[in-house]
Amino acid sequence: MEKVLLNDENSLPALGFGTYQATEEEGTRAVQMALDNGYRLIDSAAKYENEVAVGKGIKKSEVDRSEIIVTTKLWRDQLGYKTAKAAFETSLQKLNLEYIDLYLIHWPANEKNYDNWQQTNADTWRALEELQEDGKIRSIGVSNFWPEHLDALFQTARVKPAVNQIEFHPGYWQPELTQFCQEHGIVIEAWSPLGKGEVLDHAVLTEIAKNHQKSAAQVCLRWIMQHGAIPIPKSTSPKRIQENIDVFDFELSNEEMAQIDVLPQMGFSGELPNHWPDKV
Ligand code: A2P
Repeated sequence: MEKVLLNDENSLPALGFGTYQATEEEGTRAVQMALDNGYRLIDSAAKYENEVAVGKGIKKSEVDRSEIIVTTKLWRDQLGYKTAKAAFETSLQKLNLEYIDLYLIHWPANEKNYDNWQQTNADTWRALEELQEDGKIRSIGVSNFWPEHLDALFQTARVKPAVNQIEFHPGYWQPELTQFCQEHGIVIEAWSPLGKGEVLDHAVLTEIAKNHQKSAAQVCLRWIMQHGAIPIPKSTSPKRIQENIDVFDFELSNEEMAQIDVLPQMGFSGELPNHWPDKV
């Protein structure tokens, strides 16, 4: 699979596999199936309560650990220096691994929830930097950070985030944030790349899909990759797990890209980094 180079010289596959809360058995089977179908980037999070399942799926697959990029994330109730370090160890144990390839701050501390959100994010980041220095994490990054959170982090960070994982799909793709990150050498990963499946019936997507003899889901993933971002679609269905990685044999034209760029808002999660724990 094509690779995307990170600012720390590591690289990520151009497409990954998303996981979420599922029964342990279902989660394990999905991860094993994804790996056996060629996915090499597996995304999980403490919040998804699936790290045990993900770890088991990795062990059950035929793929060597060194070929797999394992991601997990620090949940927002664990922000802070000491709590971040402890939460990381818990994740490592649950995944039953020696190291994590990519560890992300899941949501930034924000103005609404913290008296000194800048300090909380800076302290959390320092913990991640130290864990990276200790060799326990290969790459460190963030998720759901807006420019205001990144600019504040840059004030004290010794290591620049390698990745910002954000909501990014047709109907909600945060182009200004994407440009900001790309200008700073931060790779975008796209969560909910299919807009929870809610965007797939839109006529613009189904029409473009028909022209390429592909599905609307494959068009979404291709559009994200052609924007230089890494989609991480989730699925527990064997057919759709295969379908979602079969996106390297066609290309969208500039016109098709532009048509998708301007689709009206749809599939939006309602989650915003400056607003949690409430949705908008
Ligand atoms: P399923 O697990 O039954 O495949 P997102 O990653 O944007 O949050 O979307 C995930 C949702 O999209 C899941 O409900 C998943 O259901 C569904 N999904 C995943 N891949 C496809 C696909 N290729 N076509 C249609 N729906 C899909």
